[in-house]
Amino acid sequence: KEIDIVDEEEVEKLKQCLPKANWMGSKHFQLLNFQGFWYSTVNFSNILAFQRHFLAQNTDLIVSSFPKTGTTWLKSLLFSVTNRFVHPSNKTPLLTHNPHELVYDLETAVYGGNPKLPRPNQLNDLPPPRLLHSHMPYSSLPQSIKISSCKILYICRNPLDTLVSHWHFYPKLIKRVTGDENYQPCNIEDFFEDFCLGKVAFGPFFEHVVGYWKQSLEQPNKVLFLKYEDLKENPSAQLKKMAEFVGIPFSTQEENEGVIKEIIELCSIHKLRDLEVNKSGLLSKFVENKNFFRDGEVGGWTRYLSAPMVEKMKELMEEKLGGSGLYC
Ligand code: A3P
Repeated sequence: KEIDIVDEEEVEKLKQCLPKANWMGSKHFQLLNFQGFWYSTVNFSNILAFQRHFLAQNTDLIVSSFPKTGTTWLKSLLFSVTNRFVHPSNKTPLLTHNPHELVYDLETAVYGGNPKLPRPNQLNDLPPPRLLHSHMPYSSLPQSIKISSCKILYICRNPLDTLVSHWHFYPKLIKRVTGDENYQPCNIEDFFEDFCLGKVAFGPFFEHVVGYWKQSLEQPNKVLFLKYEDLKENPSAQLKKMAEFVGIPFSTQEENEGVIKEIIELCSIHKLRDLEVNKSGLLSKFVENKNFFRDGEVGGWTRYLSAPMVEKMKELMEEKLGGSGLYC
């Protein structure tokens, strides 16, 4: 049930006016283009409610990401870094909760009324720092996030692995939400074309990435830009960077005692995937925890994409990211 804090009649009128696109071959849902980005009709009113009503606090730590770029991983790392003096590692809530139950997704889960999470009107009661998350592009974030001193940790991933991960994840969600057993997801070739055109949930991918990248250069104390691939290659350097960014750096004693290694191990995909909560739990009626943990590889796309697709994506990366130093 959507949170009723936007006028549904207004939302319906707005929906009718906005450009629409097919969403992964679904007969039931579409994508709507709003402020230059595509959103699924499933949670459009929640997105508006979040954008209009969320009030950031200066102490908030906000994970931000394009879907399927490593959000779950970053949430588990951030939770561990900020709670390391609160919970001993053998009793951390990460052992019994999916990371999405600990770092709250705002527009789809909190404003979407997920009963496992606080309601929007309970957000003010959470102790600081509040650990929150959004998939929204920087340009469409609520104004209070931009003007307060809250901090944003953005995770980015190469577009090829991101699109393959996206293609695996969303059909499962669409099937559960619609209950349509006959739903046939689009094939990877069609999805590839949509991804290149930006017609995917929270897309276009490149504009999403560049928006946060620019902010991280202009406001390095506000936006930390992380890459999935860097986390894979040198997790301890990235974890130290994160801890410094959020103002609780690791001490030499902690380093010597192996605290960093312990967090990396706890948040590794094999550890999280094997926890009972992530094997059999549900994040909501529509989302199984296990779907957040698939391969967790860099370069897994080679098994799915043809040489011409890769060539096309490389050209797009050059066009959209050339000069940024990101992935090309
Ligand atoms: P794959 O589908 O390529 O395996 P998100 O959390 O943004 O939804 O991203 C999901 C992707 O991150 C999936 O990628 C998933 O397997 C991977 N992932 C989840 N937890 C991870 C972890 N602890 N370490 C590395 N990758 C992880």
